[in-house]
This record gives sequence, C-alpha cells and structure tokens, in this order.
Amino acid sequence: MKIGIFDSGIGGLSVLQEAFHQLPGQEFMFYADTDHVPYGLKTPEQILGYATDITHFLIERGAQAIVIACNTATSVAVKELRKQVDIPILGMEPAVKPAVEGTEEKRIMVIATPVTIREDKLKDLLHRVDEDHRVDLLAMPRLVEFAEREEFESEAVEEYIQSQFSQFDKSRYCALVLGCTHFNYFKPAYRKYFGEDILLVDGNKGTVRHLADVLNLDVAPDNEKQFEKEHNILCLRNTEYFFSGKEVREEKDLEHLKRLHFRLEEIRNI
Ligand code: DGL
Repeated sequence: MKIGIFDSGIGGLSVLQEAFHQLPGQEFMFYADTDHVPYGLKTPEQILGYATDITHFLIERGAQAIVIACNTATSVAVKELRKQVDIPILGMEPAVKPAVEGTEEKRIMVIATPVTIREDKLKDLLHRVDEDHRVDLLAMPRLVEFAEREEFESEAVEEYIQSQFSQFDKSRYCALVLGCTHFNYFKPAYRKYFGEDILLVDGNKGTVRHLADVLNLDVAPDNEKQFEKEHNILCLRNTEYFFSGKEVREEKDLEHLKRLHFRLEEIRNI
C-alpha cells in the first residue's frame, strides 16, 4: 500500500515517524510544502488551493490513501478534498478528546496555529467534548518558524514559550495538547516550562491507528528495542520525500530529514 502524507513543512514528519513504527511494511510519500510554509498565517482559500494541488500530485504518483499531517490544512480542506477524490483522506485535529478524557479537574491548554484556532472545526470539537469548559486556546505561530529553521532548544525558543504562556497561571494546567504537528519538536521545552507532570498530548499515534483501521492494515507491536536497532535503516527507508513538488535527492536535504527523524524518535514518548 502506498500512503501519501503531507504538511506545510517538517511537522508532518512526526506522523510519518509514527507510521514507521506502526506500519513498517508500507510504502510512503512525504510531501512538505516548503515554498508555502507557514500555512497558519495564510487565508483558508490559499490553504485549500495548496492542499488540493498536493493531493492530486500524490495521487498521480500512486498514493492509495492520503494523510493530511497538518491540523491547519485539515481544518480548512478535509471536507472539500473528500468530495474531490475517491481514495481515503485522513485529517488531523488537536487531540482534545483524549486530553479531556484522560484528565480530571485541572485545565487543558491547546496550542495551534491561528487558522486552526479561528476555524469552526475546532470550535465544533470543543462544543462536543469540552463539556466542563476546561480547555483554553493559544496560537503559537512562531514555533513553526523555529521548527523550520531547526531551532528547537535555543534561548529565543524558551523566551517565546515563556512569553506566550505567561498570560496563564501554569499551576492550573494538567495537559498541553499539541494542535500543530510542528509543535512536537519542542516537547523538552514545554516540560522545562510546565514541569515533569504536565501531560503532553499529540495526535500522531491516534492518527496512524485510525489510518491502519481505515485501510485494514495490521499494526506492528510497539517494540522500542527492536526499533532502536533498525532505526538507522528505517529512517528514510520505504519513503519518497518531496519539497513542494520536487523530489528530495540532495545529500544535505536528506541529512536534514534524517536529523529531524532522529529528534522525533528521541522525544517520541516524553
Ligand atoms: N504543521 C501544521 C499544523 O499541524 C501547520 C504549520 C504551519 O504551516 O503554520 O497545523
């Protein structure tokens, strides 16, 4: 089975990384729309246009299912794309439901892009699952910029995190929902700010499990040890990478992707 995964940039690699674990036998195409990142500061019309082009590009190259590994693009484009094509299109939305169900009493912070926060999709989701009104929303668009320049642990990152969260009382929060795939790279920085007890919730595992269900694929048991051994060869294996329509072939770009996969692997379960 050939599965296309796309994002505005490198955030969606976190979904691909999870797919390496759960679906090691499948083939993947990963498309980062590096010419148009960040989506979170674009108009819904622009984002729908990019997502439509990418979807057709991946289908022409043999994708039998597509994962929109981007909460922003999902919130504006998933319904329309499903009307246009007849292969499974899976989207992502901030994992608010598991955060609400897995915690009690204290508050939950959802961080996402400005578009995701503005769109009705998230409002509808909160309406359905946030019965006790425990969820707060915060846009953190600069984390996308930091991630794209591979800056994950600098003073500037810490200052930005601190300045954005400082309007809230951090002792009132028990969970942080990473509602943008780019935000996965900063897990150590959130822990440093909120402390070890904060629950970090991303949608990656759930999205890949859902993909496996929809396509009727067997999920591999999560075996860290085995994965560590195969880690080197698994990275970039079975996958074609594209940056805005161009296949990634240059050594420096492939090295960049490998470094990102290694980081995601290191912080996958923290
Ligand atoms: N990675 C994307 C998301 O999950 C969007 C980042 C952006 O391009 O602004 O929302």
